[in-house]
Amino acid sequence: METIIYNIKSEGIVRRKPVLYFSVYGTTKSVAREIAGLTKADLVEIKPVVPYDSDRDHYNALARSVKNEHDKDMRPKIKNEIDITDYADIFIGYPIWWYTFPIIVYTMFDKYNFSGKTIIPFNTHLGSRDRGTYEVIRQLEPMAKVLDGLSVEMREAEHGAESVVNEWLKSHGY
Ligand SMILES: Cc1cc2nc3c(=O)[nH]c(=O)nc-3n(C[C@H](O)[C@H](O)[C@H](O)COP(=O)(O)O)c2cc1C
Repeated sequence: METIIYNIKSEGIVRRKPVLYFSVYGTTKSVAREIAGLTKADLVEIKPVVPYDSDRDHYNALARSVKNEHDKDMRPKIKNEIDITDYADIFIGYPIWWYTFPIIVYTMFDKYNFSGKTIIPFNTHLGSRDRGTYEVIRQLEPMAKVLDGLSVEMREAEHGAESVVNEWLKSHGY
């Protein structure tokens, strides 16, 4: 494996960073897209086996079912296989749901090994900012380096947060 990676690099092909994101209404996805565009990274959606209802008119039903997942500490399954093995830096984005990250993000931290990697978190919200989730990631992944994340309020994200995203990326040297 080492040899293959070396050969790829020596031929001038640079590995692209992944931007992993979970998004139901598309807001986090739009921030993920901006990050991917500015850093030439690949967008990778975290897709649940059982999709969440993305119709905003059904918000109350979604809120109830998400609360139930939290109360029962469930681990909704992820549909797609995500290969993070060869990446050193990984962006991870999610909305705040019920004052923390969607519980499928816990599934992801349970499932994949982030030891030795640099995690760059970001999230969207409606007032809770990151609600301590970057700290939770540090606790869940003590062997990873977790950089200071970026919280973007939903309406700001919907109108395009490229300048704030750009500043944040620059502060981390990307
Ligand atoms: C079930 C549910 C719970 C939410 N809980 C919170 C919350 O606790 N705090 C907050 O600031 N926003 C909360 N929100 C708002 C979302 O964080 C916000 O709409 C986010 O931008 C949606 O991201 P998405 O479009 O990528 O799905 C909640 C939204 C949903 C659907």
